Amino acid sequence: MCGIVGILSRDAAAPQLVDGLKRLEYRGYDSAGVATLEGGRIVRRRAEGKLRNLEAKLAAEPLSGRAGVGHTRWATHGAPTEANAHPHATERVAVVHNGIIENFRELREELTAEGAVFTSQTDTEVIAHLVSSLLEAGAAPRLAVAEALKRLRGAFALAFLFAGEEDLIIGARRGSPLAIGHGDGEVYLGSDAVALAPFTDEITYLEDGDWAALTRSNVEIFDENDAPVARPTVRSAVASVVVDKGQYRHFMAKEIAEQPEVVGHTLTRFVDMTSGRISLPAGADFDFSRLDRLAISACGTAYYAGLVARYWFEKFARLPVDIDIASEFRYREPPLTPGGLALMISQSGETADTLATLRHCRAQGMKIGAVVNVPTSTIAREADVVFPTTAGVEVGVASTKAFTCQLAVLAALAIKAGRDRKVLSEADEARLVASLIEVPRLMAETLHLEPEIEKLASAFAKAQDVLYLGRGTSYPIALEGALKLKEISYIHAEGYAAGELKHGPIALVDENVPVVVLAPFDVLFEKTASNMQEVAARGGKIVLITDAEGAAHAGETFATLVVPKAYAFVSPLIYAVPIQLLAYHTAVFMGTDVDQPRNLAKSVTVE
Ligand code: F6R
Repeated sequence: MCGIVGILSRDAAAPQLVDGLKRLEYRGYDSAGVATLEGGRIVRRRAEGKLRNLEAKLAAEPLSGRAGVGHTRWATHGAPTEANAHPHATERVAVVHNGIIENFRELREELTAEGAVFTSQTDTEVIAHLVSSLLEAGAAPRLAVAEALKRLRGAFALAFLFAGEEDLIIGARRGSPLAIGHGDGEVYLGSDAVALAPFTDEITYLEDGDWAALTRSNVEIFDENDAPVARPTVRSAVASVVVDKGQYRHFMAKEIAEQPEVVGHTLTRFVDMTSGRISLPAGADFDFSRLDRLAISACGTAYYAGLVARYWFEKFARLPVDIDIASEFRYREPPLTPGGLALMISQSGETADTLATLRHCRAQGMKIGAVVNVPTSTIAREADVVFPTTAGVEVGVASTKAFTCQLAVLAALAIKAGRDRKVLSEADEARLVASLIEVPRLMAETLHLEPEIEKLASAFAKAQDVLYLGRGTSYPIALEGALKLKEISYIHAEGYAAGELKHGPIALVDENVPVVVLAPFDVLFEKTASNMQEVAARGGKIVLITDAEGAAHAGETFATLVVPKAYAFVSPLIYAVPIQLLAYHTAVFMGTDVDQPRNLAKSVTVE
């Protein structure tokens, strides 16, 4: 993940910027850079590779300016070269960026036509040129940023430095996190409190959609409608630890909120953002064309990611999938094809059952692929091909961001398989990739449902049983919703395929049973809606999660949560968010130990 630091210092900013960036090294990066104001002019130092390369450049050509922005970049659009390293700048403005600008191609064409000259392959550079053109047209920095933000689509965090403005930096967040640090005659911006720990423990976290203008003596924060807002300042307990809860009460809440950022980051490893095509990470370029079948195995939440992937691989690549939970897979003794691919999915990479299944499949002569979050784990080490999720450290025992990152990787692999097997055309690939790129933004919008979901939680806390229903790829999300609720609130919950309810479980339904129905307005909506009516007729309390069209066609419910409209393909990634929030707030309401629920371990290393 990219890291951002911005400083209005009393002394030279560059050494402090590097200090802050060092704290963000844990997020991973492959180039770095800083920009400061030298006599009012923007001057940059950038370097490929580790921060020591940047430090060497700064030692050879020091910067003394007191205002600056810095960045560690994990390459997304364009290779990790010096030219692509941030900050990106014109004579008027420098910008550092974390996230994805979805509409950068269109903006780049427009700005090029106006005479802007681009010197990198990044999506970020459009922001510098866009703000610059507004400044040139006479807008003051605050207005230029506010106007530019309205033109950007995507999920991102940004920090700006302006030529001639020794006492101003501007930050903005939409989807990716950004925090303000308050010092003694100094002020800072950072991706998180960890970056700012060397300077201050007084932190104001920006909320989604906020932007802020910082001077050494004043911080003004505005919401997405440019209305001034107040955000609380808290004392951070980060000190030297790298993984902290930030402003969140629990790691789980933080990890849910991080999803637009980490899913965006994971996607950038599998999608060439410039061409809009799938491009697997170096060393993971697997060819699916010759496979007869694909075996998938995993446990718990990771298994549900595999269940979603089965729909994708079968639909988009016409590749038959054998899938089972890892503790059953090898005992079933399924006939496995030597030379075939077995895909293990695991956050920790240490789950004993998944590891045993990996070894079983290897003994049968299969090639092993691993969708795994911990790159140094046993499963990652023993796999032939690693498809990394870059969710970052997941501390909450209940898996959230690792799950959606697994879905992001599996979605990309299914598209790749579809192309390799000539089921998908180039145009199909472009369309599916375009819908994937939108996911971080849509997830960020979905997070805005949190206050509504929090209100619902009190009703759920009273329930003894909760049912979750879904069809197609919403079915595994229903299973995941039930698992999340069970494990952290201890309320009994079950997920069912919506069409299966009438074959037995409908006997459970009465007016005390909330029934969560996951129903995007897609080709399956009408059928799920009929199943919903069957439940309503028996007094069940329907909580419908759908999009605006679904809500308009749904009829009466106990509650309807309206998520943004997404392509059917990517809806599992979006619908995962409200079911996580629902479980989380129910557990908080009930006062359970959310991050470390009873009887559960984060990594299950026994069979
Ligand atoms: C549920 C949960 C577990 C894990 C499962 C597999 O919230 O976290 O069901 O998904 O134990 O763990 P990993 O992915 O580490 O193999």
